[in-house]
Amino acid sequence: MTVKNKSVTVHPVDMFNGELRIPGDKSISHRVAMFAAMATGTSQIDGFLKSSDCMATLRAMEKLGARISTTPSGKITVEGTGGIFSQPDAALDMGNSGTGMRLLTGLLSGFNITARLEGDPSLSNRPMGRIKAPLDQMGAHIELLGRGRLPPIIVSGTRLHAIKYELPMASAQVKSCVLLAGIMADGRTVVREPRPTRDHTERIMTMLDLPLQVSEQEISIEGSGGKQIHIEPREWQVPGDFSSAAFWLTAAAVNPKSCVTILNVGMNPRRIAFMNVLRRMGADIEILSECDSLHGEPHGDLRVKGRGLHGVTVGGDEIPNLIDECPLLAVAGAFAEGNTVIRDARELRVKECDRLAVMCENMRKLGFTVEEREDGMVVEGNRGAIHHDISVNSHGDHRVAMAMAVLASCVDAPVRIENVECVQTSYPRFWEHLCCIGGKIEME
Ligand code: S3P
Repeated sequence: MTVKNKSVTVHPVDMFNGELRIPGDKSISHRVAMFAAMATGTSQIDGFLKSSDCMATLRAMEKLGARISTTPSGKITVEGTGGIFSQPDAALDMGNSGTGMRLLTGLLSGFNITARLEGDPSLSNRPMGRIKAPLDQMGAHIELLGRGRLPPIIVSGTRLHAIKYELPMASAQVKSCVLLAGIMADGRTVVREPRPTRDHTERIMTMLDLPLQVSEQEISIEGSGGKQIHIEPREWQVPGDFSSAAFWLTAAAVNPKSCVTILNVGMNPRRIAFMNVLRRMGADIEILSECDSLHGEPHGDLRVKGRGLHGVTVGGDEIPNLIDECPLLAVAGAFAEGNTVIRDARELRVKECDRLAVMCENMRKLGFTVEEREDGMVVEGNRGAIHHDISVNSHGDHRVAMAMAVLASCVDAPVRIENVECVQTSYPRFWEHLCCIGGKIEME
């Protein structure tokens, strides 16, 4: 079920029940697309997330010389470039994806081609100075054509040298950008992060036998010194995206009487902080099974039952590991006893929209009491004095649109959510899945 129209009206439900299989992880799909395109030979990707974001990365890799097709069973086949990218004959359209743009810029900066990377209006407003700074230090040629260090980006590949880089912010995208640039550099590139962030790049590089070292303090990669690299093709299996599962964890957790089973959930410890926070709030979440997938990413099945929650304070090291779930944390907080405080989450202001400002604005429209803070927010737990004919706006941000749909299902009157096409960027089957577990919607 795809939503081509611009808005959806979400009706209240009493409880959620059922079973869902979670589509592939967005972060892993982007990375696997890039590494498969670098490999010498043909890789197959099972579970690749066919959302507009990840498809944009796949199309970009195609423009760089990879050959891409889909098998009858839906797997993606990538015939790699053998580590020699071809000069693209047009701009690389990265769609809405900060991950695609930041990682690919890092990767291409050490290859002998020139590429222009551009994106939609939201991506055109995402800060790129944060990747230009370390890449400049490595000797890369990066031009930011937008005013204020914004995209489009022109990257003219050149010989890079290794650096030691202390990330000024906890960002897996910036970390990965530097590590990917490090692949072709002279010497050992070292990255230190202020707080641990998602480690999919490191796990994939390790699987591929790239010369990566990971310790508690730093991650480093020995560059090839400009020499063509050899990456073995693989059969990849992408586990489900915990960030997608998080919508159903929240929906079921805040509605007593609910019981939802969620299958194929990526359980990388750097991604599941939100599950731990929900449990701290009192949620009943059971891990039904857990195992390692083919490329070293744990995954499993979960069952969540609704019951009363209480407010919590979340900040510090937990934030990077639930960064994309902060809108949902606000939603859970709205139905908990007492206040929920989110702090140290300034990064939310530079996501697909200013998620702190937009979530506060939308929740207030529904009658919730929220306080916006510079680095977070405080949500007062109550059921919201909802007024009728309420309309909220996603501001083109997929996670806001979906978090608001979960919230709207749990209040007492229908809510219209405008600007929901963005859901395609990360979870094309979101509306179908919402309806599968009892959600009621009308598309306009
Ligand atoms: C991502 C990292 C996070 C996250 C984004 C995906 C990644 O961004 O918000 O959705 O795939 O590395 P930052 O690393 O900039 O926080």
